[in-house]
Amino acid sequence: MATDNAAGLAGVIAGQTAIATVGKQGKGLTYRGYSIHDLAEHSNFEEVAYLLIYGRLPKQAELLEYRTKLRGQRGLPAALKSVLEQIPRSTHPMDVMRTGCSMLGTLEPEGPGHDQFAVANRLTACFSGMLLYWHHFHAGGKRIDTETDDDTTAGHFLHLLHGKKPDELHRRAIDVSLILYAEHEFNASTFTARTITSTLPDFFSAVTGAIGALRGPLHGGANEAVMELIEKFPTPDAAERGVLEMIAAKKLIMGFGHRVYKISDPRSDVIKAWSKKLAEAHGDERLYRVSERIEQVMRREKNLFPNLDFYSASAYHLCGIPTAMFTPLFVVSRITGWAAHIIEQRADNRLIRPNADYIGPEPRPFVPIANR
Ligand code: COA
Repeated sequence: MATDNAAGLAGVIAGQTAIATVGKQGKGLTYRGYSIHDLAEHSNFEEVAYLLIYGRLPKQAELLEYRTKLRGQRGLPAALKSVLEQIPRSTHPMDVMRTGCSMLGTLEPEGPGHDQFAVANRLTACFSGMLLYWHHFHAGGKRIDTETDDDTTAGHFLHLLHGKKPDELHRRAIDVSLILYAEHEFNASTFTARTITSTLPDFFSAVTGAIGALRGPLHGGANEAVMELIEKFPTPDAAERGVLEMIAAKKLIMGFGHRVYKISDPRSDVIKAWSKKLAEAHGDERLYRVSERIEQVMRREKNLFPNLDFYSASAYHLCGIPTAMFTPLFVVSRITGWAAHIIEQRADNRLIRPNADYIGPEPRPFVPIANR
């Protein structure tokens, strides 16, 4: 008889990894053994990217060299720019990321002289430029230069978006969010990347597929759905009423719950503190207060906790990021985790090909078309 015990592969150990622990007893969330709290407090995104991709923390000179390398790879080939110009203005930016990634794979294919580390670094360096080249071309008819002299990915992203260097508060808020979003074990997009990798295609195929998996609202797309929810409410009281109605109608409240975490998401408090800090700095606490009330209601009514996407929405909004760029910004970060998993999968590969419980009809005689 068919069983749905493995529905969504919940609780199934689907392989081994040395990259991250998620919700493991006594360990919590770690990247290569380092706690997410230490990384968010003391590290920066490029250091974390290096840690994930190369397996250890860089020394000072290595970090400098890595940042210089990323800075030097932010330019886009003319053929990619031309494709970006042809993608309609109405397209969701995640589709721009997916198409841009796939196109780059045709122009700079993985191969001799362009190994997997080179591809990982190239994508880490230029995803921001792809998105924002397309954005400025369609929003203002401008062909921007995607190369900036900013040392950090966060600074580079904000600089390209707003056309000027960001202040340190906003830059560091984005830097921390990139650290938090960088890696999360066998989540849906990473597992997609590993599944694709297991058939031995090129690196770009795995990343392109992963972007598709991340786009959905049950995964990365949740941060955009959260923004659409919280911006509807003028006050915390209105938010409480609205969310109670949604709960009564058995609707999902985006940004809550998690497949692995059962009590809390360790990343949520970090981004919540940044959301509060940004709200105070802007003198505009509406979205933060609305979010806090929704958190209280969800704990009280559903015993559910916010995940990383919930307070990321208000934090990103206060950094001036358009809602449709929230999930693409997740890509700018998660490319590093995907890259680490693609490299790890290749190092000890076996085709990922599970079985299914069959629940269809019993074998039966074929009926010729004239007799149906
Ligand atoms: N809002 C309302 N109810 C929720 C909920 C949410 N965000 N998340 C889970 N629940 C409820 C489910 O309806 C289910 O209730 P039931 O037992 O009465 O049917 C119960 O909690 C268990 O949830 P389940 O769907 O089995 O969890 P899952 O492990 O399959 O799904 C998520 C995990 C993350 C997909 C799910 O929590 C969700 O859809 N969250 C919203 C999207 C989101 O924030 N995604 C980003 C994840 S980082």
